[in-house]
Amino acid sequence: MNEQQLQTLLEQMTLDEKAGQLIQLATPFLKGSSDGGQITGPMEGMGINEKVVENTGSVLGASGAKEIKNIQKVHLEQNRLGIPLLFMSDIVHGYKTIFPVPLAVGCSWDLDLAEKSAEAAAVEASVSGIHVTFAPMVDLSRDPRWGRVMESTGEDAYLNSEFARAFVRGFQGDFENDNQRVASCVKHFAAYGAAEGGRDYNTVDMSEWQLRENYLPAYKAALDEGCEMVMTAFNILNGVPSTGNKDLMRELLRKEWGFNGVLISDWGAVKELIPHGVAEDEKEAARKALEAGVDIEMMTECYINHVQNLVSEGILSESLVDEAVLRILKLKQKLGLFDNPYRGADEKLESELILSDNHRATARELAAKSAVLLKNDGALPLKKSQKAALIGPFAESHDILGPWSWLGSKEDTITLDRGIRSYAKDVQIAEGSGIDSGSSSQIQSALKAAHEADVIVLALGESSDMSGEAGSRTDIRLPESQLDLIQELKHLNKPIVTVLFNGRPLDLHGVIDESNAILEAWYPGTEGGQAVADLLYGTTAPSGKLAMSFPQSAGQIPVYYNHYNTGRPKNAPDAQERYVSQYLDSPNGPLFPFGYGLSYTTYSYSDVSLSSQVLKEGETLTISSKVKNTGDVAGEEVVQLYVKDLSGEVVRPVKELKRFERVYLKPGQEKEISFTIDESDLRYYHSNLEYLSDAGDFKVFIGCDSKANNSASFKLVK
Ligand code: BGC
Repeated sequence: MNEQQLQTLLEQMTLDEKAGQLIQLATPFLKGSSDGGQITGPMEGMGINEKVVENTGSVLGASGAKEIKNIQKVHLEQNRLGIPLLFMSDIVHGYKTIFPVPLAVGCSWDLDLAEKSAEAAAVEASVSGIHVTFAPMVDLSRDPRWGRVMESTGEDAYLNSEFARAFVRGFQGDFENDNQRVASCVKHFAAYGAAEGGRDYNTVDMSEWQLRENYLPAYKAALDEGCEMVMTAFNILNGVPSTGNKDLMRELLRKEWGFNGVLISDWGAVKELIPHGVAEDEKEAARKALEAGVDIEMMTECYINHVQNLVSEGILSESLVDEAVLRILKLKQKLGLFDNPYRGADEKLESELILSDNHRATARELAAKSAVLLKNDGALPLKKSQKAALIGPFAESHDILGPWSWLGSKEDTITLDRGIRSYAKDVQIAEGSGIDSGSSSQIQSALKAAHEADVIVLALGESSDMSGEAGSRTDIRLPESQLDLIQELKHLNKPIVTVLFNGRPLDLHGVIDESNAILEAWYPGTEGGQAVADLLYGTTAPSGKLAMSFPQSAGQIPVYYNHYNTGRPKNAPDAQERYVSQYLDSPNGPLFPFGYGLSYTTYSYSDVSLSSQVLKEGETLTISSKVKNTGDVAGEEVVQLYVKDLSGEVVRPVKELKRFERVYLKPGQEKEISFTIDESDLRYYHSNLEYLSDAGDFKVFIGCDSKANNSASFKLVK
């Protein structure tokens, strides 16, 4: 169908049919689905009758070629104009081959591999009939109390933007010509990651300056990469719920950024304008969301029940409805659904491609690169000859896929004990100590196993329902039973290697001093147990670097590397003892900073050298350092470039990540790593919100993390 034909189709549609395109319903509403199709009580309560279902434009959460083809077939038999359904699902970090959670992927600093994982997810999803994924989630987050930090790639706008692009490339590829890719929907617009107190769905209030500096760039990057859709956020932003926020969506997203794709509400977020207190009823909620630019209402009924009246009463112009419908029809056309409504769905390919060796190999590699070695006094790597006792709730747990792995299965998951057994046959496995309640028999079993061992591998963490959506916590230590367990084991005076499976930076009191080594494995996915074992036994040297700071304690939150200096910085040469910006009971800095991660080898960095002391507009500056593997094993180092603007029109962060590169180095090998920047890399938002650079002095740092102090200086001349 061409543009003209779409227009003609639109003209044939009744207002009810148009409103139908604007609603998204979950699979059980749809006829032809295996788990539904019957209008039941709650659906009737929403005003969803058979006619609405027949007119529906898109479906949420369906999976499987057979199921999706069936739903589509039944739908096309009923829909008067034969408009195919769009199938959208949350394929966030894998379809059935589950990759590490996005926060972990962020810690890989490996954009190519992240892209490859998204491509694998897209292949599996599209042969199963899915057209759109609700990913990537790119909400910048500085608050580990928020459960959804595991869905984003962390605290830095530049790193998030680079990953946003990589994910979009991987999901979408050339989806208009390639049936094995999906369209991508970036979410949650906007600033959902800044919910007050880290409590999910909570208020966000921030200056536009801060929003533009840190929170918006990753959404923009995804759109610049061609991302087809945007999802709204649950939070209010400066007093107005995102889902009814005209300034945010009509003005900024559509007008300023030129986004012309489909905008979908988050689940139920249109109707939530009522409890937010900005709409009296469903009708007003529908009007506000449509006026703000939301095309599809996910899972509530405001549009479907009120568009007709809003238009006939002259409150809403029909052209606004037409605009939204046309955008949805265009997406269907781009996906080729008018020619082939069963696009991609193929049972045979499902059995060939899902969980293929290739996809599993990518999952294993990515899980290994995502894990961050936080501490090691030499206890790692383990030797096969050592007798290990594997203890703790995650020793044999399948709960290592993390939130948003609804299609991942237990049977396909390699647990830690299985991974470890592939290296060491006589590993002693203790009965797991529960997440919430460590019974004394479990502790006895753990002590017995530990007693006979040379080294204790302690698998601790958060069950996956302790993070993710609605998974906020105020105390981000491990559950008490696990802290008790480690104390008991400590008495045995044996080396303790702690492996953490969790979805957020944790407060590691009770773990850090007690452990000889700590490997942060996050939720590593389908191949997780194998990848972690590969690291523990040194087949692969750890190379992950934190994409989010680990706080000393929850009282320090938010703690992030690119903060401002304050007028009374603690470490100034002339700082007073008391009247400086500090806590009386805690250091200012995090326990582990952004960019941090150890390996089984060490690296040295030469002085930073510059191609010139002066950078002129229109020219480039090359910044280099020689990096040498000074240890005994090969490894990959993530070399990081930071910039500090010494004086700006508004305050500038103490450091900002500008570039990074993963380099492989054999023992003794040295490589020169060079980064090129130009004037555009030094721009920032001024107080009048202009995005400009200023002439003046800058410092650059190259090193292994955000604490790097290996620096050189240059001047920007304009
Ligand atoms: C989440 C979204 C998700 C949607 C659909 C919501 O609760 O906030 O991230 O895409 O559900 O499953």
